Amino acid sequence: MKYTYITTPIYYASGTPHLGHAYSTILADCYNRYYKLRGYRSRLTTGTDEYGLKIERAAQKNNCEPQKFVDDLAEKFIETWGKLGIAYDDFIRTTEPRHRQVAQEIWKRMEENGDIYLGHYEGLYCVDCEQYYPESELLEGKLCPIHNRTVDFMREETYFFRMSKYYDRLLGHIEQHPEFIYPETRRNEVLGFLKHNPLQDLSISRTSFRWGIQVPGNESHIMYVWIDALTNYISNLGGFDSELFNQYWGNTIHIIGKDILKFHAIYWPCILMSAGVSLPKSLIVHGWWTISSKKISKSDPATKIDPTMLAEDITPDALKYYLLKELTVGRDGDLDYQNLISSINSGLANNLGNLVNRTIQMIFKYFDGRIEVQGIGTIDQLDIEIREQAFLTRQIVEKSMNENSPSAAINAIMIFSNHLNAYLEKTAPWQLAKQDDHKKRMAEIFLHIVEAIRWITQLGSPFFPSISRGITSQMNFDEVLQWPEDFSLRSINVNKAHVLFDRITKEKEDELIAKWQNPKL
Ligand code: MSP
Repeated sequence: MKYTYITTPIYYASGTPHLGHAYSTILADCYNRYYKLRGYRSRLTTGTDEYGLKIERAAQKNNCEPQKFVDDLAEKFIETWGKLGIAYDDFIRTTEPRHRQVAQEIWKRMEENGDIYLGHYEGLYCVDCEQYYPESELLEGKLCPIHNRTVDFMREETYFFRMSKYYDRLLGHIEQHPEFIYPETRRNEVLGFLKHNPLQDLSISRTSFRWGIQVPGNESHIMYVWIDALTNYISNLGGFDSELFNQYWGNTIHIIGKDILKFHAIYWPCILMSAGVSLPKSLIVHGWWTISSKKISKSDPATKIDPTMLAEDITPDALKYYLLKELTVGRDGDLDYQNLISSINSGLANNLGNLVNRTIQMIFKYFDGRIEVQGIGTIDQLDIEIREQAFLTRQIVEKSMNENSPSAAINAIMIFSNHLNAYLEKTAPWQLAKQDDHKKRMAEIFLHIVEAIRWITQLGSPFFPSISRGITSQMNFDEVLQWPEDFSLRSINVNKAHVLFDRITKEKEDELIAKWQNPKL
């Protein structure tokens, strides 16, 4: 059995989920579904990052006990992923005992390896990043380079992790495993950073606040939240000795945004080496969604788009389709509402939806919903082309996913759907229906179209899973979505057509855009 383990970052339980979080999760869900389709046992996990000064302060600001505060927010994330139809296998919260136990165990492993020592640290600290910055990395006015906000001066007794010890091994690993960091630009960025900045030891405990996991053996120290948070990828599997860990860990793919690259490409591998654990297979690093060129983030209310509102207005699948199709993994993309609506109208309503709908209606009209043909019928050049295009599309989907390009995979599927609409026009079964002896040819045309739609349904299931399920039930395909192998359908038995995706009218479009631009309307 082949295994894959796909993870999302665990989201800070300091604010409600926004579209940027949704994108990380939708992308991971798409990979998970794709691997399942390819016959892997694939596991998707997500969760919430609930400790640290940032969360403690956010709770205080809301006059709330930290635990109650994170309980409510974790609930919000769970609810959001439910509404978006994310099929995750486990949701970890870092305040759960099962997580604490693994975080403390990784600490002990690092300590036993002689990699942790006590010292002092002082410097400029960004609470949002939960990390110290050397002055050279700060923006003018001593602002955090990620959050553009003032950093705090902090001095504390702290445990250090001898990260410097792993410099050569880390560099060697990244150089020898080009698949470790995708895309290449991010890999080069990490290599460039490492070559210019030999690794320093890392401060990994705090004494200035209490909201965190205690350091084993010294309760006055709290574990640095990134050590705790990164360990979720192992506690999510049940710890180092679990069966799931043995099965899945070797094939781990972490989906992350570019802002958390350093933690995953530098800190995490060093922690794992210190703990005597093999490294994940790859990091897939995506870019940011912006709105009017500003990063979508919880600290900027003008950009904070609620993904559940969009999903309710246009359906979760339409949102997935748009986000996966319009953003090349690794690049940034600007969310444009007009473009969103025209993309889903043309792809899901006019192209795919229309194809399925008119096909089913004609099969009812001319064949009462059922076709059965014994042996091989009259095949012509157009049929051969459709068959060839099915195989070509499958090949492009496979290649695109190997190259981490869900966007190219979706495009190939939509092009195929377009070809099928053109095939219908060219073969024009409604014309043949006017002549007496063409029933057999008509049957053959519909067998080709329905078989091709079955391929689209299966190949498209990682990108628009509910639409795929909808087509499956309308066309009575095999319930289990599998990688298509044979193009050889000989019988059809369809149910009554219903609209797969409602086209958004101009009037509705104006109404939606006005609402999205001013969510209080
Ligand atoms: N808690 C840490 C991750 C710990 S993982 C061991 C964290 N949380 S976060 O809530 O701030 O962000 C989580 C993810 O959301 C990151 O992958 C980040 O890149 C992604 N996004 C946040 N805003 C985004 C956009 N505007 N666009 C796309 N994704 C972005 O970091």
